[in-house]
Amino acid sequence: MSRTPLEPQKRDRWDSRFAFIMAAVGSAVGLGNVWRFPAKVYEGGGGAFFIPYIVALITAGIPLMILEMGIGQMFQGGAPKALRRMNRNFEWVGWFALAVGTVIAFYYAVVMAYSWHYLYESVRHALGTLPWAGNAEDYFYGAVLEKSTKPEDLFVIRWPLVVGLALTWALVFLIIHRGVHRVGRVVLITVPLPILLLVVLAVRGLTLEGAFQGIEYYLTPDFAKLKDPRVWLEAYGQIFFSLSVGFGVMIAYASYNRRRSDITNNAFITSFANCATSFLAGFVVFSVLGFLAVKTHTSVDKVVSGGLSLAFVTYPTAIVKLGDLGAFWPPVVAVLFFLMLLSLGIDSLFSMVEAVCAGLEDRYAFITHRRASAILCILGFVVGVFFFATRAGLGWLDIADHWASYGFVFVGLMQCLIVGYFFRTERLTHYINTMSEIHLGGWWDLCIRLITPLSLIIFLGAGLLWEITDRLYGSADWPRWMVLVGPGLLLAFFVAAFLLARQWYLLATLISGVVVGLAFYYGFGLGLSASILGSMMLVVLLGGLGVCIRIAMKGKDVEHHERTHGWPDEERLALLDDADDDPDD
Ligand code: PHE
Repeated sequence: MSRTPLEPQKRDRWDSRFAFIMAAVGSAVGLGNVWRFPAKVYEGGGGAFFIPYIVALITAGIPLMILEMGIGQMFQGGAPKALRRMNRNFEWVGWFALAVGTVIAFYYAVVMAYSWHYLYESVRHALGTLPWAGNAEDYFYGAVLEKSTKPEDLFVIRWPLVVGLALTWALVFLIIHRGVHRVGRVVLITVPLPILLLVVLAVRGLTLEGAFQGIEYYLTPDFAKLKDPRVWLEAYGQIFFSLSVGFGVMIAYASYNRRRSDITNNAFITSFANCATSFLAGFVVFSVLGFLAVKTHTSVDKVVSGGLSLAFVTYPTAIVKLGDLGAFWPPVVAVLFFLMLLSLGIDSLFSMVEAVCAGLEDRYAFITHRRASAILCILGFVVGVFFFATRAGLGWLDIADHWASYGFVFVGLMQCLIVGYFFRTERLTHYINTMSEIHLGGWWDLCIRLITPLSLIIFLGAGLLWEITDRLYGSADWPRWMVLVGPGLLLAFFVAAFLLARQWYLLATLISGVVVGLAFYYGFGLGLSASILGSMMLVVLLGGLGVCIRIAMKGKDVEHHERTHGWPDEERLALLDDADDDPDD
């Protein structure tokens, strides 16, 4: 599959529309549906959380899904290329999205490594007692993770996880390195299998004693929670994460469609399939929580736990309790559950890697698909081993997960602004409508131009403000300096994005902002929030001014305008309808 810059290679193609939809659903339906969604629901007021969730789905999730699939297919490129073709000034947003996706992929693979370990142990103890039978909490934090918050243990590798991690990355490489043809086949298994397993587990769960209490807890609303802006931010974050929008994944996947493929309906199918699966997963989790509460003679709110421990402590505890119903139940359900997690996660993981590969290949002619995937899989393994699969891995993971969500919500915001204001929106709408079974009405325009960006600005702003004024996330158990990891990560995303897009002016602005911030902090001894806010003002105002002046100076340059305000032009697009193998760029 080598290619030289002189003979552009035909773009890789899905075998069918069905393959594309399955792959998109596979990317969306992932660990997030089982591990993140139920946790967000109970933190966000049970049934009441469905309100911000559905609002976020309709005002941001679906419009952005359509947008991403639309631009990917229209511009036939991964995120950086597609965004660059809309407006040259925004290539960096594409790279930023990929940077966020990369970090998520790196810890996502480690969660899969946990699942491998549990699956292995369940099979090994199929005839005896499961190793976490005594105390699942001690087992997870002790035997598996050896969790430690001491600075000297931060980088101590947990070997049981390394095997699973290697297995995960090897699988990802095997699946994606030859292009999307194989991806299209793999998803025929990895999409229906976990959903089927979820149904089986739901049936088992709902027929358990106490299941009703759990469901009641899941669905009963606590409306007071809706006053908290953080709940809304979480709902938006969950929708983005769950639908895989804001990472360039759907852009890359859609770029492997022929130009004449449906967009809108595919986006709807993917979104609804994903959220329905989340809803189903909620039943699986909460029915079992109800059962657990009855068994341990407490109420459901005493047994629920946040984050990962839901999947690796609470659910496993309940599995052990199934032993009362017959000794064969625990290992059987354990195997089904962890198999479900693995098959659920793998297609999400490789979609993130695929998106990054697409970006790199579009950009650098010497990077083939094979090379790009090899480099990323190896890098993912190495980063996983040294950070997320260590005794402090949970801390790194939690921080990365929390801060990355600002990243992808920000990408969503930028995408709306770029399409809505820095590109002729009608051109995209026209293209989408020409290709799609369902036509976009005014609501889409309204969302992309107004509703989505406004709500994202409000919730991003509220979230960041809370972050700066209240406390920096990540300080709870871990060494104090680890609070800087999150903001540092975001900063690194920006630097990487500007570098890869070769947008030096933006890079320079950012660096001077950081320098000024540090000067405020160390030089003048101002507080943390004062320093951050001060330097932020500088970056936004001076940066914005600079960009506008630059645009004004080039304003008369018609050719530049051509390049900035849209590519390809209408006639060319029409010509390209059937010629899918056009020599791009
Ligand atoms: N959507 C996946 C999930 O819910 C996670 C994911 C995020 C996949 C980003 C791709 C990109 O688990």
